[in-house]
Amino acid sequence: MPAPLIEMRGITKSFGAVKANEAVDLSVAPGEILGLLGENGAGKTTLMNVLFGAYAPDAGEILIQGRPARITSSADALAAGIGMV
Ligand SMILES: Nc1ncnc2c1ncn2[C@@H]1O[C@H](COP(=O)(O)OP(=O)(O)OP(=O)(O)O)[C@@H](O)[C@H]1O
Ligand SMILES: [Mg+2]
Repeated sequence: MPAPLIEMRGITKSFGAVKANEAVDLSVAPGEILGLLGENGAGKTTLMNVLFGAYAPDAGEILIQGRPARITSSADALAAGIGMV
């Protein structure tokens, strides 16, 4: 089995007292189309902003094709093939 194209492990992100993401794991296989569902305020946009480098997570890591990736800006994300609309 190939490594996931994108993997997020243990992503945690707080805004003050609000824990927007708590130890979130997400994996996307090559060619997979994934819907991320959750109620208002569940943390979907925060998670995608972390993936796109808009927010630095408080904890957790991102792997691209099995390799740890350092995504600290939208430029890093775009260079890794990650876009956001
Ligand atoms: N920049 C921010 N500063 C402070 N709190 C924030 C910020 N961004 C998000 N939050 C808070 O983090 C939590 C998660 O918000 P987020 O926008 O990620 O949820 P969402 O799942 O995208 O919600 P929606 O379905 O409304 O788009 C909410 O409680 C929100 O108020
Ligand atoms: Mg949102």
